[in-house]
Amino acid sequence: MASATITMSMGFVGAQSRFTTRSKPSSIPFATTCSSFNRLNPSSLTIDFTSTFFSSSLQITPVKKPVPKLKSAKHLAPQASALKVAVLGAGGGIGQPLGLLLKMSPLISDLHLYDIANVKGVAADLSHCNTPAHVADFTGPAELANCLKGVDVVVIPAGVPRKPGMTRDDLFNINANIVKTLVEAVADNCPEAFIHIISNPVNSTVPIAAEVLKQKGCYDPKRLFGVTTLDVVRANTFVAQNKKLRLIDVDVPVVGGHAGITILPLLSKTKPFVGFTDQEVEELTVRIQNAGTEVVEAKAGAGSATLSMAYAAARFVESSLRALDGDSEVYECAFVQSELTELPFFASRVKLGKSGVEAIISDDLQGLTEYEAKALEALKPELKDSIEKGIAFVQNQKPAPASV
Ligand SMILES: NC(=O)c1ccc[n+]([C@@H]2O[C@H](COP(=O)([O-])OP(=O)(O)OC[C@H]3O[C@@H](n4cnc5c(N)ncnc54)[C@H](O)[C@@H]3O)[C@@H](O)[C@H]2O)c1
Repeated sequence: MASATITMSMGFVGAQSRFTTRSKPSSIPFATTCSSFNRLNPSSLTIDFTSTFFSSSLQITPVKKPVPKLKSAKHLAPQASALKVAVLGAGGGIGQPLGLLLKMSPLISDLHLYDIANVKGVAADLSHCNTPAHVADFTGPAELANCLKGVDVVVIPAGVPRKPGMTRDDLFNINANIVKTLVEAVADNCPEAFIHIISNPVNSTVPIAAEVLKQKGCYDPKRLFGVTTLDVVRANTFVAQNKKLRLIDVDVPVVGGHAGITILPLLSKTKPFVGFTDQEVEELTVRIQNAGTEVVEAKAGAGSATLSMAYAAARFVESSLRALDGDSEVYECAFVQSELTELPFFASRVKLGKSGVEAIISDDLQGLTEYEAKALEALKPELKDSIEKGIAFVQNQKPAPASV
């Protein structure tokens, strides 16, 4: 077999923070791990990876000089970090592709998949991929505690998705209870884990999670995140297409919340700097805000965004794992407890560290255009209502007994 150099550029760096500096690639030694994905002989490859699966370009080119052979089989052993991730709702439309993407991450040693049904087959299927993460399945409430023990990051895509004609808020009645129950179990079994909430309406489910954790006496606002990464992913894609830029180069911060007009892409802060006409700003903003509905309508009753959401969620998990692994230059947008505005929760760019949110980045809200400033004021009442609805949902119920 010809020797090769594989160069993967880190797609999510462009999407991620270039707030002050470009996020550094992970220090994880990818070569051995990634070569094992394809059963390629590592001795015949030079692999220059800066990420595992977020590439916008993959190049395989012949290498002229031979690569020295590895000395012992020890070098071929997988070198995954010992980080454990649980996905709750792992049998669903988001959960399954998310499981696959996470199974490919060399940062994950253990991948716990939980659902109320159909997760055994998903786990059996994924476990055949020859990547290092060990996959385990957990079905139903009786197995939830074991799923969560010792886990570093819990991702929650459990719940029902939208159908055409529904808003995210229409999901509240079902998903609020699901998120409440699952977060109670997180509080009882892995209270120090990072919690990534995907289940909609995120503008309410994150305050629900916060209230549950407060009732359980283990709320750490630095570790609770509403996943809004998909809004950033969409903004970057649409702007790159509109301005004919390379996808990897584009970084648009998206602030506010995760529903309709509460999603506010700050196009004036796009990196690299690009000018937009008023019409372009209006059209792009509305498209980014309605992108979820675009998918819901295209799927015509068969669910909402699952594949792009899995990609976005995997990116956010990988960023969290890199932060936990000691990378000091990790930035993402997320819906978190915040003092940036008068609202108690707000999506903005945050700096991630070993203990969660290390800093909330305020610069993006300085020097807004008139359009953005007006849109920011316009979103506040709706976002406030959604946050209060979530808080009231938990406060009006009795605290649940421990589920250990
Ligand atoms: N944050 C975002 O950007 C974003 C984007 C898209 C979808 N979503 C939301 O993600 C959620 C899931 O979407 P989907 O398309 O994967 O839905 P889906 O119906 O395909 O999958 C949901 C899964 O959750 C499971 N589930 C239900 N109740 C559960 C419980 N109590 N415990 C554990 N698992 C449970 C179901 O069995 C199912 O496997 C929806 O609420 C959707 O609105 C969020």
